[in-house]
Amino acid sequence: MWVLRDKNLAPALSTQCQPSARALLFAAALSFSALQASSAQAQSVDLTHPDQHFTVRQPRVLDATEALAVYQNVRARMFAGYGGARNPAIADLDEWPVYNSAPYLSATHGQRYVNNYANPKARAYGRYEEAGPMPVGAVLAKDSFTVTSQGDVFAAALFLMEKMPAGFNQASHDWRYTMIMPDGSLFGVTKGEGSERVAFCITCHEAVEESHHQMFFVPEEYRIELLDSQ
Ligand code: HEC
Repeated sequence: MWVLRDKNLAPALSTQCQPSARALLFAAALSFSALQASSAQAQSVDLTHPDQHFTVRQPRVLDATEALAVYQNVRARMFAGYGGARNPAIADLDEWPVYNSAPYLSATHGQRYVNNYANPKARAYGRYEEAGPMPVGAVLAKDSFTVTSQGDVFAAALFLMEKMPAGFNQASHDWRYTMIMPDGSLFGVTKGEGSERVAFCITCHEAVEESHHQMFFVPEEYRIELLDSQ
């Protein structure tokens, strides 16, 4: 596990919102993965059946330029960590196009800064709401990192959605959800090890099954329009 204190970031902001009790509880659970700053306190949380992402307690709010600068510093190390998973679906992750113009805070992925990638089979992802159903073999990846109010930067999980052959799993409409920890260890995968730990991914993503085949896409202000996404 590594941590990088970004010298360009000024000392703690005083304007951070107070976290909710629920967010605190989940933040407390983070000591298991060292994803969180040392402020995590020991509390008992059922880590095997999370019903939402463990939430960063006080994420640092960065503007797009700062977020990009931090990401450029840490991206290679984050990808090296995920590579430890030896997951063939992401063997060439560092060659995939990115679909967001700068890392953005994702409230639905634990208040982490995230980036969206899609493999060549999933290039229609760049058409966003017009993408249509993804072909078998399409892989969508969302990496993430944490920036604490003190300016400490931590690698966080990699989230994957892989379109599997028909019949793989009716409940997820044949998407396989995977969460890989920053050190490459597996947190859970649909229909595999720790599948109960990623069941909550489906619970949320299936809300857009009818409209967009379980894809939520990038927030509009961060979208990159690629010319070859047809
Ligand atoms: C509470 C709702 C919610 C949960 C739970 C959730 N997601 Fe997401 N997911 C989203 C939203 C909203 C987006 C797009 C915007 C963003 O990143 O914040 C997204 C985007 C993604 C993407 C990029 C593809 C897309 O849909 O555009 C992947 C990959 C992904 N999520 C994987 C996961 C995995 C794996 C899990 C479980 C470990 C998970 N998600 C849990 C809401 C959720």
